[in-house]
Amino acid sequence: MYYPEEVVEEVRSRSNIVDVISSYVSLKRSGSNLFGLCPFHSEKSPSFSVSPSKQIYYCFGCGAGGNVISFVMQYENYSFQEAVQYLADRAGITLPEPEEDPQARRMQDLRRRILEVNRMAAGFYYYQLRAKAGEDGMNYLRGRKLSDEIMKSFGLGYAGKYSNALYQYLKKKHVDDELLRESGLMVFDEKRGPSDKFWNRVMFPITDVNNRVIGFGGRVMGDGKPKYLNSPETAVFDKGRNLYGLNFARTSRRKEMIVCEGYMDVISMHQAGFTNAVASLGTALTTQHASLLKRYTEEVVLSYDSDDAGIRAALRAIPLLKGAGIRAKVLKLSPYKDPDEFIGALGTEAFEERIRNAQGSYFFELEVMEKRYNMADPESKTAFFREVAEKIASFEQEIERENYIEATAEKYHTSFEGLRRMVNTSLMKGIQAEPDRLRYTTPKKASPDNGILRSQRMLLTWLTEDPSFYRILKEYVPVEDYEEGFYRTAAAMLYEQAEQGDIQPARIISCYTDPEEQKQAAQLFETSEPGLNEEEKKKAMLETIRKVVDAAGRKAGSMNGDMASLQKIIETKRKLQNLRAEDL
Ligand code: GTP
Ligand code: MN
Repeated sequence: MYYPEEVVEEVRSRSNIVDVISSYVSLKRSGSNLFGLCPFHSEKSPSFSVSPSKQIYYCFGCGAGGNVISFVMQYENYSFQEAVQYLADRAGITLPEPEEDPQARRMQDLRRRILEVNRMAAGFYYYQLRAKAGEDGMNYLRGRKLSDEIMKSFGLGYAGKYSNALYQYLKKKHVDDELLRESGLMVFDEKRGPSDKFWNRVMFPITDVNNRVIGFGGRVMGDGKPKYLNSPETAVFDKGRNLYGLNFARTSRRKEMIVCEGYMDVISMHQAGFTNAVASLGTALTTQHASLLKRYTEEVVLSYDSDDAGIRAALRAIPLLKGAGIRAKVLKLSPYKDPDEFIGALGTEAFEERIRNAQGSYFFELEVMEKRYNMADPESKTAFFREVAEKIASFEQEIERENYIEATAEKYHTSFEGLRRMVNTSLMKGIQAEPDRLRYTTPKKASPDNGILRSQRMLLTWLTEDPSFYRILKEYVPVEDYEEGFYRTAAAMLYEQAEQGDIQPARIISCYTDPEEQKQAAQLFETSEPGLNEEEKKKAMLETIRKVVDAAGRKAGSMNGDMASLQKIIETKRKLQNLRAEDL
């Protein structure tokens, strides 16, 4: 941990877990917790719970869990430190400089140096394009109808015909080979040594949101293969986390973002005034892309190529966007292939109109689905509606389902009631298939100790729910009775907090920086027996205390010798005989 504990705790306690998670997942209150669809596994009924009082989350379906910091780590794929920084930012807290970690510092230094080399390379390509030697490149880009101004703002460049021009240039600037290797700008051949990765191509520098050059794409000027060559992933270039054009699009005044496939599409759209266009870099849209977009917009218009691959890409992107809380629409480009060709052929206004008429993702999905059925055949048509009903049944809120049933019935000229009954049937099926979804059952692969461990977790969970339970626990279940290691350390921390009268399970979770441990710790505090009334709960408490004490007794007995602890256990057991559920 590189931030002092007080700092981490300040950030954690000022980041309300319900507020933070609500911006990613839609939550509904049920009892003292809030529930939603788990963002870490795919499910149809909500088993992801957030506890406002404990400030932790836990998924009864997949076991994901932790505090607000773990959530951000897991969702955004951040390191512990990055998550703390992100939350501090959000809460308006200024962090002290993190304490130096030699390895992190080396990494940061490497990043800084790669960015510097990239900047030099971008400058070199930029200059080449505008020099005599870059005529071919300039002609190509002009042929694609790009203005000097747009070429300038996107920093377009040209890599010449010689395969080591950039290498020579950077060598003169004293860049060492090792750094060139890390930058991905060179290929190192055992026999021929280093040479430029890009040559005889027009160059598209790829920048991050802060306008730093993180990589390049290069296009052949004609029909050569590969059409585009991209920088490999480096310490500064992560394709899954960056979007081409986002540095401009983030300040665009349009409310939605357009997501398309290619560099040229982004540039033509920006040139036509659609400065809200971005592209994923030759890879499919990722969850990280979706949450990146969510920082800037609530609505995305997918503007993928009109071929099969483009349709498949849209179908894959829709659930990711929805999962991040973004409304998705799909733009029709036909009969043109991509936004660049569309704008070239029909112009700005026609494109604007297509955006206005972009179809909501739901009906787009239905349209694609429909193609798999023969709507003239009653049987096939019914099967289509059954699939539609299943889709609607997966929507979380009843009102949302009603709205979609209504819109679908209208659009497909079918009966509202009939479709509603089908949806209800799908919903019932879901419930019957997974009756235990919201119940935490004993893990399947039961080791002999699992029952006891579960009992210990239940005690800790009850303690987090009701601090007055400490009075009893202190007397009957000392810290040493908990399983050595993880359980005992966590119990000691929780007891310590109870002693101080300030129980904060989420704070204990911050002591672990490893996501797996955070998850385990969250489980310690979310092992409850749902649906018990007050009386049943007290009985369960008493029984659980007995189990834990008995197990501790057996253990003390088997480790023959330690008379003192054996004596203590016998004493505790005697006292326990007089303890009644009502006393709890
Ligand atoms: P233009 O033909 O220049 O208009 O390109 P485009 O943007 O229409 O290209 P296309 O739809 O074929 O590809 C979309 C994106 O996929 C490109 O912008 C690249 O990021 C990527 N891409 C295309 N071809 C290749 C390739 O051969 N190799 C790699 N690595 N990426 C490619
Ligand atoms: Mn194109």
